[in-house]
Amino acid sequence: MKMDIRIERTQAPKEKPGKGADLPFGHIFTDHMLMVDYDKENGWHDARIVPFGPILMHPGSTIFHYGAGAFEGLKAYRKPDGSCQLFRPQENAKRMEKSIDRLCLPHMDADTILYLIESFVEFEQDWVPSEFGTSLYIRPFCFGCDEPIGLHGIQKAKFMIITCPVGNYYKEGLKPVKITIEEKDVRAVIGGTGDCKVGGNYAASNRAEHEAEVNGFTQVLWLDGVHRKYIEEVGSMNVMFKINGEVITPKLTGSVLPGITRKSAIAYLETMGYKVNERLVSAEEIVEAVKNGTLEEAWGTGTAAVVSPIGVLHYEGVDYKINNNEIGPVCQELYNGLTGIQWGRTEDKFGWTVPVPAPAK
Ligand code: COI
Repeated sequence: MKMDIRIERTQAPKEKPGKGADLPFGHIFTDHMLMVDYDKENGWHDARIVPFGPILMHPGSTIFHYGAGAFEGLKAYRKPDGSCQLFRPQENAKRMEKSIDRLCLPHMDADTILYLIESFVEFEQDWVPSEFGTSLYIRPFCFGCDEPIGLHGIQKAKFMIITCPVGNYYKEGLKPVKITIEEKDVRAVIGGTGDCKVGGNYAASNRAEHEAEVNGFTQVLWLDGVHRKYIEEVGSMNVMFKINGEVITPKLTGSVLPGITRKSAIAYLETMGYKVNERLVSAEEIVEAVKNGTLEEAWGTGTAAVVSPIGVLHYEGVDYKINNNEIGPVCQELYNGLTGIQWGRTEDKFGWTVPVPAPAK
């Protein structure tokens, strides 16, 4: 649905980071943000692009107490010809519709979400950085704002989009990351919200992620919440393993996030001659494959992380080195292939990219 979007431009535009500037992930925000309000009487209304800044919230708001918040993450890329494009934004919009519905936030259909994303990126496109490997990270989010304390359903909400010019998500860049398999906490269970992008999944992950970081690991690899046996995903990415020539990835059981980079990697790998096997894969199987020398490569896929090689997996007190802690050829080719399409360096034979209209003169 096309909403009218009112525009209030900032009177104090910030200086944009120049070429070669450090763009730590999620630290720099652009000049504006998009907001839409919801209440029972008016439905979703008053879509507006306003100067970026703090928002006033009632302390009773549902989001603060009961975590009613859904979000997405996608990127806009600058092509060598100077124009900008999005990567599969329809997929993010569809997933966000599902996350919003799962939390019983006021329904917003995927077409409207897509329209808001595209409109805001078109408006803020001067902020898309130009160097390969950098992009404009787009964070749509939606949250409950009801004021009475208690569980009464959500009658008031906001939908917002903020954007950040970013470089690498991991400080390691494309160097292999060190991941620990979590044995105590779980991230999600089937029937919960693990297959949606909601803040609670990440809050539940905080303790283990913190301990992992303190112990020198980049992130945690989650096991399923029921058997504590099957590999699900890493904090910010899905995972893939190459064992004995075959690429395997945990299947989408209902507690794993259906990653858009995961889906794209599966399609891209097919063009490389790998039919990805989506199935249950246990931590024991991976450890066994390291021990018998059949685990050739492991990597993660995610919007923020892109494609990230895993160099060390830690499980039950032991560090298992993968591919001599180096990026493997399949991971490298997949990285080159997906990033080539995203940054407009190679032809998009899949029809995944969506151009951002040039700014009106
Ligand atoms: C993304 O990949 O876009 C995410 O939302 C993951 C987040 C932890 C940065």
